[in-house]
Amino acid sequence: MKLKYFSHSAFQITTENNISILIDPFLDDNPTSPVKSKDVKADYIILTHGHGDHLGDSFKIAKRWNSTFICVNELANYCSEHGFKAHNMHIGGGYNFDFGRVKFTIAHHGSKTPDNQYTGEPSGVVLSVENKNVYHTGDTGLFYDMKLIGEMTPIDYMLLPIGDNFTMGITDAVKAAELVNPKVAIPMHYNTFPVINADPNEFKKIVEAKGISCKVLKFGEEIIL
Ligand code: NI
Ligand code: MN
Repeated sequence: MKLKYFSHSAFQITTENNISILIDPFLDDNPTSPVKSKDVKADYIILTHGHGDHLGDSFKIAKRWNSTFICVNELANYCSEHGFKAHNMHIGGGYNFDFGRVKFTIAHHGSKTPDNQYTGEPSGVVLSVENKNVYHTGDTGLFYDMKLIGEMTPIDYMLLPIGDNFTMGITDAVKAAELVNPKVAIPMHYNTFPVINADPNEFKKIVEAKGISCKVLKFGEEIIL
């Protein structure tokens, strides 16, 4: 499978048989994304919460591709109410889709849409696709139960925020990576706006000194997992 980083918290996973899964596709109004919504395909769209910088261009994309949303119940209902296909889940629950398994985790944050609808608890997500486990933490502060998440599912790639202000900053993100102990940590949610400016190479240096590999993805870069 392939993992593409658009910037902010927006990623695309593409399976061997070409199923495209977008996570938090905030593209058109995202000043750092080199890719815009008209250029991406989505069979599935996973949303971690309802904030505008995560809901992003989901509806535009889903309309074009007839994508299925995967998110916590309240947010999934919000998508359904707008006429989209949705698979309702909730924190702690997993489900086997045609591309692999999705399990939702806690995240300490908020979740309201740009049009002021409450969309349930914010979440993180663990994806198990083609024998790799990817943990996208969503927007969150540091929490000790990350240790449990890493124990229950050995994580290959942990995608975690380092931008501070709304989420973990570098110091807390290093601790989060230590708790989860992934094979590779990939920083996200930084440099999109001045208030979340952070140096991913500083994160890399500190977390690698703790024995955890780190890959800083360029905005628009795609890697093979
Ligand atoms: Ni948020
Ligand atoms: Mn955010």
